Amino acid sequence: MKFLRRFFYLLIGLSVLLALLLVWATQFAPARFRVNIPIQSIFGGIEADEQQLKQRLSAPPGFSVSLYAGGITNARVLRFTEAGDLLVSTPRNGEIILLERDTDGDGQADATRVLIDGLNRPHGIDFYGDWLYIAESNGFGRIRFDHQTGQTIGEYQPLVSDIPDNGNHWTRTIRIGPDHKIYLSVGSSCNVCEEPDPERATMLRYELDGSGFEIFASGLRNSVGFDWSPIDGHIYATDNGRDLLGDDFPPDELNRVEQGQFYGWPYAHGDRVADPDFGPGNSDKIERSTAPVHAFRAHNAPLGMEFLTSKHLPEQYQNIALVALHGSWNRTTKDGYKVVSLHWNSDGSVEERGFVTGFEGSGHVIGRPADVRQGPNGDIYISDDFANAIYRVSWNENRNLKEIEPTNTQLQQPIFEKSQLNLADPQVNTDYQAGKILYQQNPCAECHDSSSQATAIPLKNLANRYNLAAMQQLLKTPTPPMPSFEFTLDQRRQLATYLLLEY
Ligand code: HEC
Repeated sequence: MKFLRRFFYLLIGLSVLLALLLVWATQFAPARFRVNIPIQSIFGGIEADEQQLKQRLSAPPGFSVSLYAGGITNARVLRFTEAGDLLVSTPRNGEIILLERDTDGDGQADATRVLIDGLNRPHGIDFYGDWLYIAESNGFGRIRFDHQTGQTIGEYQPLVSDIPDNGNHWTRTIRIGPDHKIYLSVGSSCNVCEEPDPERATMLRYELDGSGFEIFASGLRNSVGFDWSPIDGHIYATDNGRDLLGDDFPPDELNRVEQGQFYGWPYAHGDRVADPDFGPGNSDKIERSTAPVHAFRAHNAPLGMEFLTSKHLPEQYQNIALVALHGSWNRTTKDGYKVVSLHWNSDGSVEERGFVTGFEGSGHVIGRPADVRQGPNGDIYISDDFANAIYRVSWNENRNLKEIEPTNTQLQQPIFEKSQLNLADPQVNTDYQAGKILYQQNPCAECHDSSSQATAIPLKNLANRYNLAAMQQLLKTPTPPMPSFEFTLDQRRQLATYLLLEY
């Protein structure tokens, strides 16, 4: 008996040693000793397999999904260069990887190489012309990039390196906005708590050189993905809700992020529902918080998102957003594990539909989407940090695979499409008249007419900042302290038409 027990301990000891050796060989060993097994395959993950993808994944009719690149350990944020090469951040390895564009048309990246290494958990990446901006967990920096050769030029310049990165949520997402400013989302340090540091659970904003720090919005627990809507020009951001309140609460969120707004965490979740721990005694904070525009199912973990604008896609897939749902880690039955599309209805409400599904089935997981990005020719790319892969979703009609459409990183085009409202159009005219009456019947003038009140907020130049959809949305979910009114869909359109033409 004694001998058997000793043998058993010896076996355990040897297995632990072997496991440690494998981890070392795959991750930490100097490059020349490194074995190319993705570490996930040891810790329960899998390697992406084209055959299995074909059997398991499904996309809407007309789209097909294929494996664009495998073996990209911990693939997270995706960004295209102007030449059509794909950058992938791999925070765990401290690297930005470059996947060379598919010039031979075989449906796969031609080659994979490390573009930059030695970074501190790099996650977000974005271009501003030939500057490549990279968000590390404690800040961000930039490096010159030659889009044509796919090479960096000169040294990496850290710009900000004092962002707190202790505790939970160390991934940082960086985007350059149409206002030529840097937006950086910084998640909370905890599951739920009152943050001692005001920079946590926020979206921050900076000038392009890293100066001009400001807290753009707060109360955002962890907004990993965000993008500017081609419909109304606003930022829409995913947000992951807190854990440990059961399988179905709270919902994860999509917020329309506006300057100075507070989005509720840790006091409230979803549409201003009080948190059981932090809600009591904080009803003032809950009341002034802004509700999400869409609720994802609890624990779905929405991460990367992007609006689709490619003219190569059929019309019903333009101006929709795709969101990568990473999937639940602590739900009784698994949920999420797919890419969904969000469709805006004319009343501002959002409809969620499955886009690429099947990463999970009967509890068996073959992948976890982390980011989603529109590439050249309207193709859509998905990163997966579980199967360490990049997938390509292609619209199949009229394609020339070898033709690479340049990606614009300069942000020259205005992304705000103005509404063309003409009073000579009878429908517009009727709406205008009805809107005018609504304006008079409601107490709008009490706050907006300077002749009735000295501290009024005059309405002016509205058409420069809102189009019809955005104005209807504002009337549906006004920014506090403006109260919300119970308007019908028609009434919102009428009032919006009146406001845009009158002010
Ligand atoms: C209790 C005061 C109050 C009432 C009543 C009110 N609003 Fe407002 N409204 C505000 C405030 C305050 C803002 C600015 C909010 C902000 O900080 O963005 C605002 C903003 C707006 C804006 C955006 C202005 C801009 O320049 O971006 C529009 C449009 C608007 N209100 C229309 C209306 C209409 C239409 C009504 C009536 C149905 C109405 N408001 C009733 C207080 C009010």
